[in-house]
Amino acid sequence: MFREPAGRPARALKGNHVKATAKAHPNIALVKYWGKRNERLILPHQSSLSVTLGPLSVTTSVEFTGERGDDDVRINGKDAQGSERSRVVELLGLVRKEHGGKLGAARMVSAGDFPAAAGLASSAAAFAALAVAARTAAGFDRDTKAESILARRGSGSASRSVQGGFVRWNRGKRPDGRDSFGEQLFDAKHWPELRMLVGMVSREEKEVKSRDGMRGTVETSPYYPAWAKDAEAEVKRIIPFIKRRDLEAVGAIAEKNAWRMHATAFAADPPLCYLKPETLAVIQTCRELRAKGLGVWFTLDAGPNPVLLTSAKDEAKVVKVLEQHGAREVVRCHPGGDAVLV
Ligand code: PMV
Repeated sequence: MFREPAGRPARALKGNHVKATAKAHPNIALVKYWGKRNERLILPHQSSLSVTLGPLSVTTSVEFTGERGDDDVRINGKDAQGSERSRVVELLGLVRKEHGGKLGAARMVSAGDFPAAAGLASSAAAFAALAVAARTAAGFDRDTKAESILARRGSGSASRSVQGGFVRWNRGKRPDGRDSFGEQLFDAKHWPELRMLVGMVSREEKEVKSRDGMRGTVETSPYYPAWAKDAEAEVKRIIPFIKRRDLEAVGAIAEKNAWRMHATAFAADPPLCYLKPETLAVIQTCRELRAKGLGVWFTLDAGPNPVLLTSAKDEAKVVKVLEQHGAREVVRCHPGGDAVLV
């Protein structure tokens, strides 16, 4: 692979195949993103903040062939179809446009090491890895801001998976979205003993994808304006607690914010409910554990699998109780690092 000076695209490919492979982690939002102000550019109504989930990862390779034709998109061993494929093709198109040369059709292969679409943000890791691999394959130097903006066009939460640790996705004000990207506030080493335990109560694909769920909520939930205002304020409030590694305060905000996101979605028409009875059982257990003195809080994305926030010292106890109370499997995570080229 040849490189040009910082930020400049590769000038000529001359039929050379240019390939790059990147690996990124998913993330779990402590203050959620729920709702777009611009559907095409994927611009949010409010800022959000997440922690990157190691060791889970998605690895993606992109090769620009320099030839005409359709992009070849393979995800988890299968040819991608429908919107899954078109979202990748669209992102590759943005890279071709920025490059301006003759990159040609791409061959893209992506695989994750955790189940997709079960409430774990697999699309976040996938689009972050794709953005890093595609820009690098096109000859651009690493640039986390440009990568985050590109990843955002695939999936909003992917803007927070280009960097590791604790990342804030700034809402931004510009209509073109150039100020709406993920920004690392603390790296993964800041809080190594923090644990995010995903209680897998269901491996089924969710019925309503986040994209459709948030559109319905923005358009029909009377609580939406209150949600957006509150979440923006919570992002500011949680940062000093993360800085101090205050699990109790971080957990309390994360839990409250998850309830508020879901409450806003319940109030949509038709109502949206991502919770299953097992989800509530785990949430209830979490409350009981806390009453017994264990430091554990929950958060929940747009799916049935709760993610419990705890610390390394209580991890084993929380895993055991989770398994006894409805979780078929527990995926243990800790703050993960940046998206990297491999
Ligand atoms: O980026 P998307 O379209 O998968 O939406 C993610 C939405 C939530 O996971 C529910 C919240 C978040 O901030 O990650």
